[in-house]
Amino acid sequence: MRNKVTVIGAGMVGGTLAQRIVEKGYADVVLVDIIEGLPQSKSLDMLQCGPIVDSDARIIGTNTYEETANSDIVVITSGVPRKPGMSRDDLVLTNMNIVKPVTEQVVKYSPNCIIIMVTNPLDAMTQLALKVSQFPRNRVFGQSGILDSARFGTFLAQELNVSVKDVYACVLGGHGDTMVPIPRLTTVGGIPITELLSKETIDRIVDRTIKGGGEIVTLLKTGSAYYAPAAATEQMVEAILFDKKEILPCATYLDGEYGIKGTVVGVPVKLGRNGIEQIIELKLTPEEGAALKKSAEAVMELVKIMKLE
Ligand code: NAI
Ligand code: 2OP
Repeated sequence: MRNKVTVIGAGMVGGTLAQRIVEKGYADVVLVDIIEGLPQSKSLDMLQCGPIVDSDARIIGTNTYEETANSDIVVITSGVPRKPGMSRDDLVLTNMNIVKPVTEQVVKYSPNCIIIMVTNPLDAMTQLALKVSQFPRNRVFGQSGILDSARFGTFLAQELNVSVKDVYACVLGGHGDTMVPIPRLTTVGGIPITELLSKETIDRIVDRTIKGGGEIVTLLKTGSAYYAPAAATEQMVEAILFDKKEILPCATYLDGEYGIKGTVVGVPVKLGRNGIEQIIELKLTPEEGAALKKSAEAVMELVKIMKLE
């Protein structure tokens, strides 16, 4: 049987993600949006790429959930992106009112699926979907760390004039201003960047990484990034469907790991067919551990605003 992936939200991230999956051809896609004609038109357009890109994957667009039934993975991108001057956190109540009913429909039609959250504020929305779905934590998690690490890695590769393939970039924490890039565990060809770059240069690149999403919002003006976010999410979908056991940073509910309990925050996990198969606990310095806890507290503050209990 072919893999089935539902993408909720046929906007910039959802549409680009659907395109990536369909063009690779390893799963059929159902694209859902509330705007009539939007998911249908994008799906038909993508389907007609098939003969050109040599993909037999099927994609359909819909405004309801019947076609999503029994999806292996459901990616939630429905929600409002930020505009210049807004933080991701400003979106919490608006997007809560979108993500909650969407999750209820997802669960109704695909009770055994894995949910990947993309909607911002990412960690809070992941925690909301976990609560609403009542799924175990291995089946509800969010995309953030792959994107944040990719930004860190891109800037480092540019600075050192090396291939991005040679950079391993480590970013932990929430997908927001408190994210925690870890230079000590970030390497180029196996060498920590702390041995390759001055503290000033690292600080500058860390700062640009933390503000990486905002840099694009300021330039784009009408929305936020979508090419790299879609690529990051597709990496997660592929790791799961191909049971790759890939170690990737994902927003996951911690239950005592890293000394954090009851909050979703970004840490490395092993992703396979069962979703999160292991939470990887890195040995952090006291300063790094404190920064991660501070980031988790910021997520908790947002979760409180949603009054989830
Ligand atoms: P967009 O505005 O292009 O697309 C959002 C789509 O959601 C729209 O087409 C809208 O009609 C749809 N939608 C709204 N309510 C819906 C509902 N109840 N059911 C189904 N569809 C619904 O926005 P974009 O750029 O695709 O971003 C989507 C979300 O992803 C935003 O919240 C954004 O902040 C977030 N994001 C998160 C990233 C991450 O790394 N986690 C990266 C990039 C964006
Ligand atoms: C980003 O970091 C909008 O969260 C998204 O680009």
